[in-house]
Amino acid sequence: MWLFDVYLILHCIYIAQGAKILGIFPVLSKSHYTVGNVLLKELARRGHDVTMISPFEENNKPPNASYRDIKLKFEIDKEVKGLNFFSRTTSHPYLSTLFLNYIGCRIVDQSLKQPIIQKLLNSDEKFDVVIMDQFVVDGFSYFAEHFGAHKILLAPTVANSWVNPLVGNPAPPSVVPELLMEYTSDMDFFERLQNTIFYLFAELNRHLYFFPRQNSIIQQNVPNAKPLSDYLYNVSLVLVNGHESFTYSASSVPAMKNVGGFHVSATGKLPDDLKKYMDNAKEGVIFFSMGSHLQSSQFPIEIRDAILRVFSTLKVKILWKWEHEELPGKPENVKLGKWFPQQEILAHPNLKLFITHGGLLSLIEAIHHGVPLLSIPVRGDQKLNAAIAEKMGYAIKIIYDDFEENKFKNALDELLANPVYKKNAVYRSTLFHDRPMKPLDEAVYWVEYVLRHEGAKHLRVSSLKLSWYQYILLDVSIFLLAVAGLVIYVSKLLFKKLCCNKTTRKTKIKRS
Ligand SMILES: *[C@@H]1O[C@H](CO)[C@@H](O)[C@H](O)[C@H]1NC(C)=O
Ligand SMILES: *[C@@H]1O[C@H](CO)[C@@H](O)[C@H](O)[C@H]1NC(C)=O
Repeated sequence: MWLFDVYLILHCIYIAQGAKILGIFPVLSKSHYTVGNVLLKELARRGHDVTMISPFEENNKPPNASYRDIKLKFEIDKEVKGLNFFSRTTSHPYLSTLFLNYIGCRIVDQSLKQPIIQKLLNSDEKFDVVIMDQFVVDGFSYFAEHFGAHKILLAPTVANSWVNPLVGNPAPPSVVPELLMEYTSDMDFFERLQNTIFYLFAELNRHLYFFPRQNSIIQQNVPNAKPLSDYLYNVSLVLVNGHESFTYSASSVPAMKNVGGFHVSATGKLPDDLKKYMDNAKEGVIFFSMGSHLQSSQFPIEIRDAILRVFSTLKVKILWKWEHEELPGKPENVKLGKWFPQQEILAHPNLKLFITHGGLLSLIEAIHHGVPLLSIPVRGDQKLNAAIAEKMGYAIKIIYDDFEENKFKNALDELLANPVYKKNAVYRSTLFHDRPMKPLDEAVYWVEYVLRHEGAKHLRVSSLKLSWYQYILLDVSIFLLAVAGLVIYVSKLLFKKLCCNKTTRKTKIKRS
């Protein structure tokens, strides 16, 4: 018996230490890559053999670890880089859904056509687990099927209607705000109405257009591939970049783990010149960055000048991530930089405020360090993030499309003068840090758990076996209604018969 135990333990150690892991993070957005890259590097550091498919490259591979890049090249890269994301079309939720579908389909199609990917698919390499980006690239599910690997989805956003159904997570649109809308989980009637209409639109879009399209792309590029519907829902685990400290609290099935914030690394040192600059800023510092994807140098000139006018009235110093050499009309108190060490700046005690696009990674880093926000959401999930942050009381949001100089000035004055925002940010930060284990350790734990338990099939909920009408009990409701109808009908008949009989008897008696 003990021999068997030893075998089991050795087996677990073997699997947990030496698994072959394939990461697929093909989206051209650095934030998607970052979450995948942080997790996969950590898995490599812990002895797994990691291969990463993405349009980026890791220049700082973990030492003595097995981490290989398979680098994708896209034509679409140029199209996306040429876009000005401050234009209104990219921020409209319905148009944005269609745009993301288009991008997602192009990415899967262009990836599958690349010789480097065809070579991998035609090799006899095996993988134990595939960890892939959960974001409009569902066709990559085929890779888990192809390599006979367990599939783990990593959602770089909070849980949402793209990922919830894949593991049967209950998420009615009455309480779960859509990713591209601007609501929190507390919605009034009209918000619930809008949220539901968008949800239905997104569901129809997924099932009538997006999944069939992704399937046909696989069929075109991989001869004899099984249809997507055979394995789309065959998911071992979903890792979600959410946590109650910075997003609304919601249901999670056992196969869905909220490991939000795992990308935040230990804070390093500020470079000397910046440290001196921030140490000497007696009135405090504001950090202003629209993230890695949006370039604040693409702001329309009116907005840029309005921002500069407001900044010139402030006593605090401002660090502005600005991608050009020059900024005409730049006031004394503004310091520009093409790149800033964001986490180290957020950690500095003189930092008063972070002006951000409200991208989830930036927001999480701010919460990690307890810094209040002025959010200027532009697109994607930024409006949702901003709405939640404002509701939690550590942020003010100004939706980019509604930007006005006086709104911006009033928000800044309020955030700098009223200590309640800082207090709420610090409160959220304590919640963020109060967890049984660090989120990165937890993410690694669950990946290895899936390996130890061969796909962790026991985590799956039964709702995955039902069709939608069975799940919402439409069949049972119709049956019950039919039975109720029948009972009423039969009772009516009986009643009629009974009282008619009585009246006929009475009339008969009278007549006689
Ligand atoms: C890497 O492995 C070599 C040889 O096993 C060892 O000498 C070296 O210290 C290791 N480096 C790190 C950073 O672990
Ligand atoms: C589902 O995935 C598991 C690996 O986790 C695999 O063994 C199984 O064959 C897959 N099932 C289907 C129907 O694709």
